[in-house]
Amino acid sequence: MCGIVGYCGNRKAAPVLIAGLKKLEYRGYDSAGIATLYKGGYRLVKKKGRVEGLGDGKDVKGNVGIGHTRWATHGAPSTRNAHPHVFGQVAIVHNGIIENAAELKKECLARGEKFASETDSEVIAHLINRFYRGDLAAALRACTQRLTGSYAIAVLAAGSPDTIACARQKSPLVVAKNRAGELLLASDIPAVAEEGLQVCTLQDGEIALLQNGEITVFDSTMRRINRDFFVCDAQISAPAKNGYEHFMYKEITEIPFAMRNSMPDFTQNQDFSVFYKVLCQAKYIEIVACGTAYHSGLCAAYAFEKICRIPCRVSLASEYRYRDPIVPEGALVLAISQSGETADTLAAAQLAKERGACLAALTNVGHSSITTLADFVILTGAGQEVAVAATKSFNAQLATLYAMVQALAAHQGTKVECRDLPALAALSLKASERVRSWTPYFTGAKSVFFLGRGADCFVASEGSLKLKEISYIPSEGYAAGELKHGTLALVDKETAVVAVITQQSVAQKTMNAVHEAYARGAKVFLVTAFPEYGKREEIVDHVVIPTCEEAFSPALSVIPLQVLAYSVCLACGYDPDKPRNLAKSVTVE
Ligand code: M6R
Repeated sequence: MCGIVGYCGNRKAAPVLIAGLKKLEYRGYDSAGIATLYKGGYRLVKKKGRVEGLGDGKDVKGNVGIGHTRWATHGAPSTRNAHPHVFGQVAIVHNGIIENAAELKKECLARGEKFASETDSEVIAHLINRFYRGDLAAALRACTQRLTGSYAIAVLAAGSPDTIACARQKSPLVVAKNRAGELLLASDIPAVAEEGLQVCTLQDGEIALLQNGEITVFDSTMRRINRDFFVCDAQISAPAKNGYEHFMYKEITEIPFAMRNSMPDFTQNQDFSVFYKVLCQAKYIEIVACGTAYHSGLCAAYAFEKICRIPCRVSLASEYRYRDPIVPEGALVLAISQSGETADTLAAAQLAKERGACLAALTNVGHSSITTLADFVILTGAGQEVAVAATKSFNAQLATLYAMVQALAAHQGTKVECRDLPALAALSLKASERVRSWTPYFTGAKSVFFLGRGADCFVASEGSLKLKEISYIPSEGYAAGELKHGTLALVDKETAVVAVITQQSVAQKTMNAVHEAYARGAKVFLVTAFPEYGKREEIVDHVVIPTCEEAFSPALSVIPLQVLAYSVCLACGYDPDKPRNLAKSVTVE
């Protein structure tokens, strides 16, 4: 999704901005731009396409500037729709969506103002310019009072040298000061991270002014407030491929480590003692999440219900918030989000909390927005995930959730074991190399079905999401027993099928669906913990993954599907780290 950087110091701003934008590239974007202030005017460079197109910035004068990578929502990807947008005295960059932009634009047009782009963002520049009388923070505040929707905004004004003002509402934004006294801002810490950087995560409604080496933060009534700064971990600044061709595959290989790092002992660890109590007393668990995190929620709910017999429902965060949800007394809501910034998940979590739920956030990013909302924060230890397609974060989420299941089961007097999963994941990773030889069947397929029952069904959905996301091949994850109720009509000899069989009680039932697909000419592949099924005539080839506590098997069975998606993507000639139309963190609704 869109990214923002800002710089205010003594160096040339442009190279700093461009370096920052490069660090945000992995998040997905379609155009980029920077604006610097110089002698009461602007130096503006913006282009459709990659950040590289902006050059190195060395010839762009000015010590103060803002930069942006755009992921189009309103208006096609183009140079004129790229940010910054300049109007009158003002230049702005914006992340989010201004929902009342049409109405505001009408108002500006009636005043005789001309628009240079089709974006919703440009109205912000018009409004700030209208309200600007030399006090940039006040003008920004007057503007935000007129906006509905979500935004992180950074703004420059020609009449306010050495100054950037910024504001946040439902879209992440941090302000920071480095050891050299330079001031920075960014939508994501990695854009500006360096050793010793002091960072403040702005909250909704807050405005910050970066000026003369100082950061001043105001609340929504423009009262100065004292905000806490934390020292950022320099490691997040420079994600490296370490010899791998792509982040996605590097991250798949990190799965065993990510899992091992994400398994606190909830029964013993003092940091979680209050949370553990709440978990043991919960009468009902509701999980809200999106995409891959939603799939990890489905897998966890299956294990919670099967092993702990506690009712557990999983909701797509984007649906939860609009269905007027009932939050029963004693409900524990788990919001799962790798980034901690997904707008739908944040909104669902907020609503659950407002309705009386105890809210625990499971996220991979400390200091992300969800951590400030939740009653309990549980960090997964996957390490920074750069590839848009989530892999190791999924396994890390499962590791934490299964550790929770194990702890709750222990409280109930039942013994289950998940601590062996990281070592077993390493074996699954090794076995997964075999799926690369399946690739030609998938690049040539008209459509692909992933089938499973029980916990395998959720892994099928995740495998399908991975394949769609990076190889653009139409695919569905399907409950194997449901195939015959309609979807079987799509299966023919141009269909490839991957069946996942790790649950003994439904193994033969999934094989029935496999047979139905095979009988219609589909090429069927198998990921299984039971080698005997691989020898059946319906199966072209199979991968055997280790056995474990059955309800926990998704953490192992998903790995071959992640490797398959990666391999098919490469064979199709696409870049797995930068899938079209997608962004790493989805900060708009
Ligand atoms: O950061 P989050 O976990 O909240 O992100 C949720 C989804 O946007 C994310 O999992 C998405 O589906 C991934 N690109 C899937 O690979």
